[in-house]
Amino acid sequence: MAPGLVEPAVAPESVRSLSTLTNEYDETLRFYLNGTKVRLDRADPEVTLLEYLRGVGLTGTKLGCAEGGCGACTVVVSQYNPTTKVIYHASVNACLAPLVSVDGKHVITVEGIGSVKRPHPVQERIAMGNGSQCGFCTPGIVMSMYALLRNKPDPSEHDVEEAFDGNLCRCTGYRPILDSAQTFSKKSACEKTTSNGGSGCCMEKNGNGGGCCKDKDNVDGEVKDIKRFTPPGFIEYKPDTELIFPPSLRKHEFKALAFGNKRKKWFRPVTLQQLLEIKSVYPSAKIIGGSTETQIEVKFKGMQYTASVFVGDIPELRQFSFEPEHLEIGGNVILTDLEDIAKKAVEHYGETRGQPFAAILKQLRYFAGRQIRNVGTPAGNLATASPISDLNPVFVASNAVLIAKSLDQTVELPMSEFFKGYRVTSLPPDAIIASIRIPAARPKGEYLRAYKQAKRKDDDIAIVNSALRVVLDDSHIVKECDLVYGGMAPITISAKKADEVLKGKVWTDPATLEAVMNALEEDFDLRFGVPGGMATYRKSLALGFFYKFYNEVLADLAVEIVKVDHQAIGEIERIISFGKKDHDASLKYQQKILGKEAPHVAAMKQCTGEAQYIDDLPVHQNELFGRMVLSSKAHAKIVSVDVSAALELPGVYDYVDHTCLPNPEANWWGAPVCDETFFAVDEVFTAGQPIGMILADTSVHAENAVRAVKVVYEDLPAIFTIEEAIEKESFFDHYRYINKGDTEKAIKDADHVFTGVCRMGGQEHFYLETQACLAVPKPEDDEMEVFSGTQNPAETQTYVAQVLGVAANKVVCRVKRMGGGFGGKETRSIQLAGICAAAAKKVNRPVRCMLNRDEDIMTSGQRHAFLTRWKVAVNKDGKLQALDADVYANAGWSQDLSGAVVDRALSHSDGVYMIPNVHVRGRLAKTNTVSNTAFRGFGGPQGMFISETYMSEIADHLNIPVEKLRDINMYKPGEITHYNQELKDWHVPLMYKQVQEESEYERRRQECEEFNKTHKWNKRGMAIIPTKFGISFTAIFLNQAGALVHIYHDGSILLAHGGTEMGQGLHTKMIMIAAEALKVPQDAVFISETATNTVANTSSTAASASSDLNGYAIWNACEQLNERLEPYRQKLGSDATMKELAHAAYFDRVNLSANGFYKTPDIGYVWGPNTGQMFFYFTQGVTAAEVEIDTLTGDWTCLRADIKMDVGRSINPAIDYGQIEGAFVQGQGLFTTEELLWHRASGQMFTKGPGAYKIPGFRDIPQEFNVSILKDVEWENLRTIQRSRGVGEPPLFMGSAVFFAIRDALQAARKEFGEEEVLQLYSPATVERIRTSCADPIIKRATVTPKEGEKSFFLTI
Ligand SMILES: Cc1cc2nc3c(=O)[nH]c(=O)nc-3n(C[C@H](O)[C@H](O)[C@H](O)COP(=O)(O)OP(=O)(O)OC[C@H]3O[C@@H](n4cnc5c(N)ncnc54)[C@H](O)[C@@H]3O)c2cc1C
Ligand code: FES
Ligand code: FES
Repeated sequence: MAPGLVEPAVAPESVRSLSTLTNEYDETLRFYLNGTKVRLDRADPEVTLLEYLRGVGLTGTKLGCAEGGCGACTVVVSQYNPTTKVIYHASVNACLAPLVSVDGKHVITVEGIGSVKRPHPVQERIAMGNGSQCGFCTPGIVMSMYALLRNKPDPSEHDVEEAFDGNLCRCTGYRPILDSAQTFSKKSACEKTTSNGGSGCCMEKNGNGGGCCKDKDNVDGEVKDIKRFTPPGFIEYKPDTELIFPPSLRKHEFKALAFGNKRKKWFRPVTLQQLLEIKSVYPSAKIIGGSTETQIEVKFKGMQYTASVFVGDIPELRQFSFEPEHLEIGGNVILTDLEDIAKKAVEHYGETRGQPFAAILKQLRYFAGRQIRNVGTPAGNLATASPISDLNPVFVASNAVLIAKSLDQTVELPMSEFFKGYRVTSLPPDAIIASIRIPAARPKGEYLRAYKQAKRKDDDIAIVNSALRVVLDDSHIVKECDLVYGGMAPITISAKKADEVLKGKVWTDPATLEAVMNALEEDFDLRFGVPGGMATYRKSLALGFFYKFYNEVLADLAVEIVKVDHQAIGEIERIISFGKKDHDASLKYQQKILGKEAPHVAAMKQCTGEAQYIDDLPVHQNELFGRMVLSSKAHAKIVSVDVSAALELPGVYDYVDHTCLPNPEANWWGAPVCDETFFAVDEVFTAGQPIGMILADTSVHAENAVRAVKVVYEDLPAIFTIEEAIEKESFFDHYRYINKGDTEKAIKDADHVFTGVCRMGGQEHFYLETQACLAVPKPEDDEMEVFSGTQNPAETQTYVAQVLGVAANKVVCRVKRMGGGFGGKETRSIQLAGICAAAAKKVNRPVRCMLNRDEDIMTSGQRHAFLTRWKVAVNKDGKLQALDADVYANAGWSQDLSGAVVDRALSHSDGVYMIPNVHVRGRLAKTNTVSNTAFRGFGGPQGMFISETYMSEIADHLNIPVEKLRDINMYKPGEITHYNQELKDWHVPLMYKQVQEESEYERRRQECEEFNKTHKWNKRGMAIIPTKFGISFTAIFLNQAGALVHIYHDGSILLAHGGTEMGQGLHTKMIMIAAEALKVPQDAVFISETATNTVANTSSTAASASSDLNGYAIWNACEQLNERLEPYRQKLGSDATMKELAHAAYFDRVNLSANGFYKTPDIGYVWGPNTGQMFFYFTQGVTAAEVEIDTLTGDWTCLRADIKMDVGRSINPAIDYGQIEGAFVQGQGLFTTEELLWHRASGQMFTKGPGAYKIPGFRDIPQEFNVSILKDVEWENLRTIQRSRGVGEPPLFMGSAVFFAIRDALQAARKEFGEEEVLQLYSPATVERIRTSCADPIIKRATVTPKEGEKSFFLTI
């Protein structure tokens, strides 16, 4: 048995009694799967529903995180619901669901609802509406929408907007998914919406205010119901054609079940009596409700429960009743039902008495995502006793009573006495939580409210939550009170001192507020280094929530003697989001195929689950699964590695490490500097560094064995942050600078010189498909085939050949598609490929490995954190004179691509501003963190962030609007950058103007100011941010590409090129280019994969240059073919089909295959002398954003964003819009919610999954999200294919407009309380940073300063 955290030892007699007790239980699971009956006589007790489904070949359901945080594994489980007595179609995270939970139910997967040939309307509309890019999230998103429609065939817009709170997508920016999904909603079912293929509904055109002409018919003030509208050419949604709920399941007899093996047994009692009997003979049997806590413990903490008891099918635990004085709910009602029950309870008891239920409802609104709420239960929330559980404070504050039952007794446990310590409760070991009695509030004088603040609004656990209750008499004297908080201590806790202080006080006496705030400070006197960090912020939330509550109660009391601070009341709410795009932008230059909007060629396959990713490939005969043994230390000597216990475990086959390589040199990899090893040898330099790989017959067996590997370390000192690296002079050799003019003199001569520090955190790629590889040795000649999720097949081939000790011609690397890349698979994928290949060679068997999300985050690098110390000289007129800056990037433990990343940051540190004298220097901090790597933008966003930071701070110093400062300094056409490149086709000034006009920036800015004058705690801010992004690899040799085009004599065309498809639509664009060039319809051209045996020596798909490079290589090949076909065109006429042409040419023995090639002309920058051209051209853009922040909590929303990009003559505007929206939202995440944290004590990364690391969700996107591409200009100097510009990376920096709008709002917030000092705001602007940047009295009193030598709990590097 692998060591893990194992349940307490159980006496053998208990085990025996249990088997006697459950002897009569049935062993067979019976359920329906996509309409077909399934009977499992020997179900594997250790598999989840996801593992089962994928094991039977239903690979459409994806594994994205295994922790319920991404929704990629969403399936629908239809069941008769014992609480509501109706059939409910629950969207469920298959990664958490135990197989036992589906007995008697109907499991529906993405394959069950449609196929490419016969798609479901949801699949079709998301595919055609460009709602799928890489497609890895798509099946889950389809299933969430499907669940909504099954439960509510006529959903409202609001239902649709909320349907995806348990799903994440990293590619699309969500807008197109929502647009497609809204076509099913009742309200926006207008045929004019762009998502319906119309020219734009009045709603889109008029903005939010007007509403849609079809929304309602205002005649006589009556609102008419609008029928659903099917977009032209789309399949109509007919609810009556859906898969039926199998009639036999209606009669399904829920029998008690018991099945399993020696290691693990599952029990599924169906009566409370059976459950209590089990608990009485076997108290440590683990109760499983929704499994949303327990499966995470099993997967990530190695908990092993030998006996698990699923209680989800015990009707007694899922009942509820309205009693005169209280609501009683069964312990295991699902949270979705609890929402309904709470709503009904508010109606039943009325608004006043129903306050506790309204508070429950409020907490449930932002409790996890729908998939979790569909299975999670209040008993699970209570028994987990997490200090941040959302329901627990409400239960405690409302004086709920928990009814605990064991076989021989029922006890009532008051909630106030339930939590005993960190995750310890007073529940007796043999008892279960049967029900919870929640008292209704009194008809008069009682007030109860609940609050929660998290890093992200949707699907996030609280930082602090609370439920605050008071009872006042007629003179407003406090008779009772319960101020209960989560997130402030190891348990849900009452603020005892504040409670004491409050009792007997007069609520309306202003001194009461002050006294309670003081007492709260004492109750929550957090120290700076408190576990969980954020001492100041958490304290400020505790105070802020009370301040809100105090005023809410005052407002209800409606007394005149005391002034209510009405603006502290309420929370930021979102409207139904919407947006518009200019679909006519390319009309002027459209050709037959190029320039037209066309969906991603694989979109339909992705929406139906037919698209295959690495882990979907069928298992090869004899295949083994690998799992890496990773360092748990940031820097240490490896004293010993003992794998003996691991190798003894069931299913384990072998262990591979550096000794298995052909020679020590084969262990080294990395480009351009080969400074990293595949396997650690005798020292580890970062936590997460691979030491070896265990091979076993299943992934789970390998995972268990990895836990049993004993590594003994000897700690060495470690460096984490850039500041530490500077102090200790820990740098890599790479050092570059750009020096133009005479900076020193300009600084001396200027009117003003300002200095500052600009700090920007890194970013996790969070592609939905983690790194994956399958290495298949061939029987002959040491050949190997490597299926890798890589942006870089050629380098993969090179290094696989190296670890095998063979020449490159023996290795083929194949890439069908990736579930997202964003730069994270440009080099870091090679690590896994090299290790899998070495393992496959050692055992001469195929080896597969798909990293768990936490392993992926720990091993595969991120966007670099940057620190810049800048000095800028500026004259009185606002003209910039000089920039002098030291730019440091945290490279991590090896160099990877860090040198090129910092180089690009240097070249982008001018932003879009003309600075005559520039001296910028870049260095790479060498630290003991993960090796940082390419990430969309590749240092460009970091460079431009420096520029917009100094622009903002200078404007504040000079006291002029930053918009004006930008105007004064913005490059004019033909001006020269600091690396001496002339700006041709320069459209930023034009777009800056257009965006201001189109977004009515001036008017809205004034409105913003008005709003800020009248709102004390909520502030609005705006920003308009320009971007210029240089396109070309800075390593010149990479600017080349190849293509291979075959025309078969049936006229079909097979295209291969060097670029890989990761969702960005590259293959779609390349097919369009080939089709246009060869004058064939688009569907005559097919791309099967990217492989090193069709196109050799490819550059990685990166730098936004892949369409330019591969597109021209394809064009070149097609030109050769056209030349050869010309005589046949002449002979057969211009109408001749490709079939006729190819046929004729073939019989004339004409070569119908061509190899195309392209290299970018002109470029050739030389670092140092500052000569030569750095970039082929610049992609440009401008974005205006408006935000609102709640300064009492740090909560915020983006009200509106208007983006305009110059992408030249777009090859496919639909794909380009997808890139723009997706990059913008990714950029917004970078600059706001996405914060990477390390545990200071262990040196390990803390933000290792969606639970702790927050990428934007559906309801984080701008409420109004408008995107356009520049039109009606000429691109005279643009010598790219179709004169298009690369678009993948450039829009990412546009997300910073949200950051700078937040900064603007913060300036107003600070001024409100007299703080005039220029704000230095580091990125990301998290809720914590927003709140702690304010200057009000509450934050001041909440501020916690470190004691001498005290360090924070978390580190940012
Ligand atoms: C992605 C994600 C997001 C989440 N977001 C939130 C959030 O926003 N807020 C929040 O508070 N929580 C959140 N959680 C935590 C979790 O979902 C909740 O705590 C949920 O209520 C647990 O219920 P469950 O039935 O799934 O528990 P399970 O995992 O089934 O069980 C949890 C514990 O409760 C015990 N238990 C279950 N039923 C009983 C019973 N009847 N009697 C005695 N013991 C019992 C189990 O033995 C186990 O110890 C989240 C979890 C995930 C995975
Ligand atoms: S894989 Fe299940 S939620 Fe992410
Ligand atoms: S399309 Fe959603 S993650 Fe890629």
